[in-house]
Amino acid sequence: MSSGYGAADGAGFVSHDGVIHERLPDAGGGAVPLRWVVRWETQLDDAELARIHAFLVRVFPDHPGGVQAAWAGSRPELRLLGFADDADDSTEGELLAHIGIARRFIRARESGASVLVGDVGLVGVSPDRQGAGLGRRLMHQTDAVLADLGVDFGTLTTGDSKIPFYEAVGWHLASNRLHAIDLWNRRETFDGPFFIRPVRAPLSAWPTGDLERNAREI
Ligand SMILES: CC(C)(COP(=O)(O)OP(=O)(O)OC[C@H]1O[C@@H](n2cnc3c(N)ncnc32)[C@H](O)[C@@H]1OP(=O)(O)O)[C@@H](O)C(=O)NCCC(=O)NCCS
Repeated sequence: MSSGYGAADGAGFVSHDGVIHERLPDAGGGAVPLRWVVRWETQLDDAELARIHAFLVRVFPDHPGGVQAAWAGSRPELRLLGFADDADDSTEGELLAHIGIARRFIRARESGASVLVGDVGLVGVSPDRQGAGLGRRLMHQTDAVLADLGVDFGTLTTGDSKIPFYEAVGWHLASNRLHAIDLWNRRETFDGPFFIRPVRAPLSAWPTGDLERNAREI
């Protein structure tokens, strides 16, 4: 795994076993320290998982599958975690933002071609910090992690109310019909918004027609 790479706007970069510090402007003209930490799933101990779980329960109080189903039921490969202070590479402190990513192949039904994607989920900002630009920072750092993972595209499924957010942060609404496995382990044809983000491949390389995500959402 590479040690990281620069971000276009100079905001820094995440390395996979590292940490990045930046500052989030606040409403009062000041700036809140922000620390991004990437953790592979097998690095997280029980106490860290408990803290993440408590955060996700606050961010997703009404998730249809329950946070346990989405989180413990289909765990990501790694998490990008945003904390509210300048401490070193730890997962102590106030957790402000969270994302999970798992690499997998999306299969084009007609051609049989497979595309390596980083499937993104559990995108959350602490309820008392939402609407202040933190989600944008989270998605910016997610771009860096996706690039470091070497995937062609990022993918995510979401609800209609989140379309403006993902469009605002540069993701593209895909028009494919997506066949997948739902939170209750039944096959489904996902009928909500399905977003893609070009990473190593150009947008024009995204396959057309019916696609299969032979797995549950992250
Ligand atoms: C969705 C979420 C991650 C967004 O994070 P956030 O910190 O509130 O978003 P930001 O303040 O960084 O907004 C980023 C951009 O999206 C836009 N945006 C966000 N929500 C929007 C909405 N509902 N309608 C229109 N624009 C929206 C903002 O205007 C902003 O654009 P700008 O920078 O050009 O002004 C956060 O609100 C959240 O955790 N919600 C609850 C959990 C959830 O639904 N997660 C998504 C699951 S798929």
